[in-house]
Amino acid sequence: MSDLDSIVSSAQAAFAAASTPADLENAKALFLGKAGQLTELMKGMAALSNDEKKTRGAAINVTKQAVEAALTARRQALADAELEKQLKAEALDVSLPGRQRGQGGLHPIALAWERVEAIFNSMGFDVADGPEIENDWFNFTSLNNPPNHPARSMQDTFYVDMNDEQGLPYCLRTHTSPMQTRYAVAHAKKHAAAAANGTMPEIRVIAPGRTYRVDSDATHSPMFHQFEGLWIGENVNFKDLKVTFLNFCKAFFETDDLTLRFRPSYFPFTEPSAEIDIAFSSGPLAGRWLEVAGSGQVHPSVVRNMGLDPEKYIGFAFGSGIDRLAMLRYGVNDLRLFFENDVRFLSQFQ
Ligand code: PHE
Repeated sequence: MSDLDSIVSSAQAAFAAASTPADLENAKALFLGKAGQLTELMKGMAALSNDEKKTRGAAINVTKQAVEAALTARRQALADAELEKQLKAEALDVSLPGRQRGQGGLHPIALAWERVEAIFNSMGFDVADGPEIENDWFNFTSLNNPPNHPARSMQDTFYVDMNDEQGLPYCLRTHTSPMQTRYAVAHAKKHAAAAANGTMPEIRVIAPGRTYRVDSDATHSPMFHQFEGLWIGENVNFKDLKVTFLNFCKAFFETDDLTLRFRPSYFPFTEPSAEIDIAFSSGPLAGRWLEVAGSGQVHPSVVRNMGLDPEKYIGFAFGSGIDRLAMLRYGVNDLRLFFENDVRFLSQFQ
């Protein structure tokens, strides 16, 4: 092996032995540095003749290029190895499950409530809201239920320790029915002139909201939700009530597979009065009559308390439990589950 060939092979060996970029730079100095082997050879050329310089110079250049090529290759290899190491260290395990932020959602009662509003809205009903602390007039008396009337004991009332202008205690409304007179009075006042010449727009409204009674078991909670329905006009009858409520039930339960029946009942504010039962002809509840609402033709005294002439205006009202409808729709058998706020229960409705 010539001296030049041995320089190339010892440079290759030295570069291969360098395991870091710093080691490699030190190894480079041994060959290409100021006092490196190749530099020394170049210096030695000064003593040669012109012809010898040519051949020797060319040979040294070839050697130098080979050493530089070996150096570049090793630099690249070290850089690749370094990058590889870094990638390994910072590798992400994309198969790990992500950390999730719990997603919120609407409560099943709120979902049912929204369905009720959307369905009645689509049937041309307005949606009204009213106070949960109600005075005696709207909760009872305006609904044909005067003080000391035995029908008042149909509902166990929470009273508030404060009297209204008539000296009667306020109560937590026991039903949404006070919204019948509240809404109708406002409507009759607003359209008084039109009513006088017979062009008053019909009252068509639902009023969903919280209601309260002293009651607590698997199907009763002291706070529960109802929605009141009221449709008053010049010629509104039981057939309209039946069609309206049946269409509502079909939309709410998303099935045509149900029948509706009226069962005679009593409420002071309707005459005649009826409970509304429905029965599905298939599914888990098939064949059972399920009570879903109280209803009836609005009593003439109540129409009068609305500020309307009962000789002219007639209509119907109904009151239904939103919680009960939600229980039937979602197959929940204990009302109290809705109010315990256990996310394992609530998240099933999202
Ligand atoms: N308010 C009655 C109840 O809560 C239901 C009802 C409303 C009945 C409207 C007739 C008409 O039991």
